[in-house]
Amino acid sequence: MTIDWGRRYLMCAPEHYDVSYSINPWMDTTVRVDRDRALAQWDALVATLEEAGAAVEFLEPRAGLPDMVFTANAGLVDGRAFLPARMRHPERHGERTWAEAWFRGRDYEIRDLGDDPGIVQEGSGDALPFAGTLVAGYRSRSSAAAAEALGRLVSAPVLPVDLQDPRYYHIDLTFCPLDERRAMVVPAAWTAEDAARIAELVPEALVLEPHEAATFCANAVVVGSTVVMPACPPRVGRALEAWGFDVAVADVGEFVKAGGAVRCLTLALDVTLSVMVGG
Ligand code: ARG
Repeated sequence: MTIDWGRRYLMCAPEHYDVSYSINPWMDTTVRVDRDRALAQWDALVATLEEAGAAVEFLEPRAGLPDMVFTANAGLVDGRAFLPARMRHPERHGERTWAEAWFRGRDYEIRDLGDDPGIVQEGSGDALPFAGTLVAGYRSRSSAAAAEALGRLVSAPVLPVDLQDPRYYHIDLTFCPLDERRAMVVPAAWTAEDAARIAELVPEALVLEPHEAATFCANAVVVGSTVVMPACPPRVGRALEAWGFDVAVADVGEFVKAGGAVRCLTLALDVTLSVMVGG
């Protein structure tokens, strides 16, 4: 059974993209971003997603918000509702107005995570559905309290995952749902307890080795049976193909400089969390 979401994405063009501050271990402000190359890579990613059968919608980029390209962090979609993110770093707070306006303008119900400063939740970058459960990362970015807050706003059960390794600061760098039974996973980035919980949740896991995870290959999106990945280590490609997936590699090297890749650059619009039944 193929995955039942991942055919519609919201993306934001990198007109103002840059690495002008550092809020994760991958961002080095002395490294220069090639804006033209970033634009070309982003255009090619849009084309690859569309070729795989996905529809892409666009959020207008805004000056002064260089990370706005990473729409996965804008919030979480649940059917016709949008849960705007509450980002940790002030550098990204300004993105919320624009994301919220996009969804309001399309008649989405806005569901607020509240104003408790302890609740930090970085959108679908830290919350991915798998077989009826919302797998939610926390530690460096989203807060532990976010899982409970999410649980109040969606009816799917929420499984919090402690992201121990600061290099893997969002769940989407360590976990990629492939269908109702399969996922790419990086248990080395989690606590042993959480790795055991995910092992129980995912009947067939493709466990990535540390050197494979470091290519950001888990930061992929799945469009039907096509896995669109920023890189594909040979063993991972063979395993995906043996499961019947096609692999499409989209080089997003300019965005890896900011600690993001394919999943981070996309926000799935066709996710419904509230009517999910346990897998
Ligand atoms: N520079 C961005 C940040 O640190 C990258 C975001 C990556 N997004 C993601 N979903 N992992 O916020």
